[in-house]
Amino acid sequence: MLRLWNAISCLLLASALPALSAQTQSFENSAIVRTIELGGSLVHVTTTFAVKALKADASVYTITIPAEEIYITNWLEVKVKGNQEPLTVTYSGSAGKAHNLDVSLEKPLEVGETINLVLETVQTHATWPWPPQAAQKEEQALKYQTPLFVLSPYITNVQRTKLKASSPRIISHTTPENVDDFTLENPVTKSGATVTYGPYNNVPVSANQEFIEKYQQSVQLHYSHDYTVLEVLKLRRSAEISHWGANLNIQDDIILHNAGPELKGQFSRLDYQTQLFYGSSVHHFLTSFTVQLPGGIRNTYYYDQIGNVSTSRLRTAPSPARGQKNAQSSVLELWPRYPIMGGWNYTYTLGWDAPLADSASYDASTGKYIVSVPVMTEIPGSVVNDAELTIILPEGATDVEYVGPFPAHSDELSTHVTYLDTVGRPSITFKYKNLTNKHVKPIYVSYKVPLTAHLRKPMAVATVLLSLFTFAMIARRVDLTIHKKTTKDV
Ligand SMILES: *[C@@H]1O[C@H](CO)[C@@H](O)[C@H](O)[C@H]1NC(C)=O
Ligand SMILES: *[C@@H]1O[C@H](CO)[C@@H](O)[C@H](O)[C@H]1NC(C)=O
Ligand SMILES: *[C@@H]1O[C@H](CO)[C@@H](O)[C@H](O)[C@H]1NC(C)=O
Repeated sequence: MLRLWNAISCLLLASALPALSAQTQSFENSAIVRTIELGGSLVHVTTTFAVKALKADASVYTITIPAEEIYITNWLEVKVKGNQEPLTVTYSGSAGKAHNLDVSLEKPLEVGETINLVLETVQTHATWPWPPQAAQKEEQALKYQTPLFVLSPYITNVQRTKLKASSPRIISHTTPENVDDFTLENPVTKSGATVTYGPYNNVPVSANQEFIEKYQQSVQLHYSHDYTVLEVLKLRRSAEISHWGANLNIQDDIILHNAGPELKGQFSRLDYQTQLFYGSSVHHFLTSFTVQLPGGIRNTYYYDQIGNVSTSRLRTAPSPARGQKNAQSSVLELWPRYPIMGGWNYTYTLGWDAPLADSASYDASTGKYIVSVPVMTEIPGSVVNDAELTIILPEGATDVEYVGPFPAHSDELSTHVTYLDTVGRPSITFKYKNLTNKHVKPIYVSYKVPLTAHLRKPMAVATVLLSLFTFAMIARRVDLTIHKKTTKDV
């Protein structure tokens, strides 16, 4: 896995690629099939490369991502078809508008040996509502644009691209030009919800400026989309670990945004009720959504700027058994107080407590606790533009170490002081941009809690109680004095 954003910064270090020409003849693509699943704020792209080695010991295969797509690609993984383990991918610079990624194969191929590589990417903010505004009763349509050809530093015998819309109501699609060199048939076909570009045959080496200038072009699809286009503008997650209460508290402060076409005109509750009643075209208003929370949670709370939202439904699953892989999730259905129309924001807070034992373990050999905290909870179909996760460790925790599932934009260890703390609690803050459903993974934090730190809390409580008690006594005396004084005065 690779965060392209981080990789881009290496661009300045990597020089132009003189090595590429040497590799050019190592492989040929027998076939490339790219399938684009069109969504709202997330678009999932799967590209399969049927590869044949032309040289012995060919072990590094280069994948090319066009400049138009590299900045919107926020998650990427390459696997051998049928394998679970992703291959190592490194950014190796760009040749003009073609950005190259080197995929290290597990073992070198022999001449004539074939392999199927599957590149999976998630693009964020790649679609846009068109028209940009829609009245309450109008349907929602989106546009998406992509370069026509999958570029490659190798010759490709045949390639095609399938765009799959969420409904067969495809309003328009581009017919490509200047593709006679690659096909004598229809350059594009539509069948149901799928538009297919290609097959295009005998495509030469294309990861170069000449090919791009001569043949590359954008194709666009305009399609009706029956789901809400959601973005989380801001997610602030705080995860507080308490050994004292054997508790892990997680709280999310969220600004959710309906990124579909902006509502044109006034919102009419009457029309809305009618639309709900007849079940007609209400897909692009957010009326409810469902999130999966861990099993074993308690004290779940959900409030917005007005107060408690009582219309949510929670089905709690039991705590996962130790070592259980596919633990059951609790399911929370959230019903905001009012429907969230296109262009509107919805700010809310969701939090819960979970038994610490469900996500913590103790390693006796190192004397350290290890706690896993998920980076985020998925809101289906939604991108998280900006996330900040703070993990607050127990008071007095030392030897803090952490490992994340992917690089954060920044991480920082600091001290967090709360009521009843005497020395403060270490906390770690992680910041992320453009998270997708592929980023729902845990961060592992390990630390030691010295025995004295365990005792410090009861000591603090005792001290506070003692001082309260003393204060009460003094207050009483003072009170008595005042009282006496007043009686005297009367
Ligand atoms: C987030 O993604 C958008 C497009 O999908 C991109 O323009 C933006 O630069 C990304 N932000 C960061 C910080 O990577
Ligand atoms: C919110 O509702 C829950 C359950 O109905 C209740 O226990 C809690 O005290 C309420 N919180 C506030 C702040 O009103
Ligand atoms: C939604 O929230 C964002 C971030 O706080 C803000 O910039 C934007 O103006 C808000 N939009 C509306 C319609 O309130």
